[in-house]
Amino acid sequence: MSLYPFAKRINWSLENNPLSLAIEKMRSDGTPILDLTESNPTRCGFQYPKNWLEELSSSEALTYAPESKGTIKARRAVESYYQQRQYALSPEHLVLTSGTSEGYSFLLKLLTNPGDHVLIPKPSYPLFQFLIELHDVGFDYYPMVYEEGRWQIDREAFLDLVTSKTRAVILVNPNNPTCSYISKDDLTFLNEQCASHQMAIISDEVFLDYQLKKDLPAVSLVENTKVLTFVLSGISKVLGLPQMKLSWIAANGPKKTLQEALERLEIIADTYLSVNTPVQNSLASWLPQASQIQGQILQRVQANLETLRHYPLKVLSVEGGWYAIIDVPSLYSEEDFILDVLRTEQVLVHPGYFFDFDREGYLILSLLPQGEVFREAIERISRKIQNL
Ligand SMILES: Cc1ncc(COP(=O)(O)O)c(C=O)c1O
Repeated sequence: MSLYPFAKRINWSLENNPLSLAIEKMRSDGTPILDLTESNPTRCGFQYPKNWLEELSSSEALTYAPESKGTIKARRAVESYYQQRQYALSPEHLVLTSGTSEGYSFLLKLLTNPGDHVLIPKPSYPLFQFLIELHDVGFDYYPMVYEEGRWQIDREAFLDLVTSKTRAVILVNPNNPTCSYISKDDLTFLNEQCASHQMAIISDEVFLDYQLKKDLPAVSLVENTKVLTFVLSGISKVLGLPQMKLSWIAANGPKKTLQEALERLEIIADTYLSVNTPVQNSLASWLPQASQIQGQILQRVQANLETLRHYPLKVLSVEGGWYAIIDVPSLYSEEDFILDVLRTEQVLVHPGYFFDFDREGYLILSLLPQGEVFREAIERISRKIQNL
């Protein structure tokens, strides 16, 4: 209970959960942890091209020439990034932001009034609740179901959730942590629903380039003109540079609505002008070299996935991204198990409930840690699971 009348929208619990308390204690005791929740690429031993830092110290960085949607040079760099991947888009349809979270925030300002609702996938990325509540907007979870090795939208459940207050559907493509790309049928379904209820699609594609299953379509929505569509991506994943804080919104949709959306978005962006100049200046030389870091990340992720497959564990299909899900149906309390593994084996993984899975029994692992750490951690977890 707070002594001060802070805004109700941020009335979240400030208490630490048992897992974060246990981690804090082990860290303060100096106990080493094999951390399989590590998904910060700058801490996973990748080699970044040396010339990337040189770009930041160019004398151009001492000139401030703000452009509300981001500098045209930087937006052209994003246009070329998509061109290389066979997508056409105009720099006029791009708005740069200081992160994907800020992109969501701009879109919620554009699309929703207080009390409106947004649909979000479940399981998915746990930040949505906070991002949405910060805008006085409500949300409903639309379930994703795992059938025959693929995650798909539960369409019947989705239909029951749409009301006249639903203004947007968030899609994570590929999803974190289910690592599933949107299927063609699900996209057709979403386009139909969004067209008939005037809802926009927000497609978070930060992991799009990290495709692991080559036999499945891994399609961006940047060319989706059927309904108002906003694709979010950025260099935190595309270049493994979360600290450089540059993302983008790529908008598309029916011509007139798109035009008005862009004009309004431009005013929102102009109110903040939040993207820093040195990183915008560097983008044109960094983005064409994306494969230098993506190649290392893909190699690591594939090798760790291969390691995982050598153990008698039920690993759900990984289509793209940096995560894997182990399904342990006999696990009744994820929290008890994870605390036990942490205390006795010094291995940390995420519980499924963190991502709002519909039942207990899921362990979520990052595939980014270095191979030796990953192998040792899996050895220990696997032993624990066999002894359940
Ligand atoms: C699905 C998804 N979207 C967005 C982000 C964050 O991106 P940014 O660093 O650009 O805010 C993450 C971070 O893990 C993520 O998993």
